[in-house]
Amino acid sequence: MDGEVTFWPSGKKIKVRHGTTLLDAARRANLPIVTRCGGKGACFMCKVSVRPESELLPIGDNERRKLSGLEGDHIRLGCQAKVAGRVIVDIPLDPLRAAVARQLARQAEENDDLW
Ligand code: FES
Repeated sequence: MDGEVTFWPSGKKIKVRHGTTLLDAARRANLPIVTRCGGKGACFMCKVSVRPESELLPIGDNERRKLSGLEGDHIRLGCQAKVAGRVIVDIPLDPLRAAVARQLARQAEENDDLW
């Protein structure tokens, strides 16, 4: 074990081997990252935000091509980005949960307006 990944917003931390993908680390931590291609770098569903101080192996050509510049904003594909040391990852809400959260927030604002 020579890597450590911390996932936010849960704060869950897991030790992994050098070269483990962020997707595999998330699965080992029982944290869901949505995928459709099964980790082949094809679906673009496993995007995560990686904190700038994170230690990852250099980005590969396939991932760079898929991200087409987003890597500059610290976005990586969970199935392609590999751990080289300490890594901090922000996992976005899955789209359905995000939509429900937005709807609930909107309803709460509307209820506040009634009072
Ligand atoms: S799981 Fe499909 S691109 Fe990563």
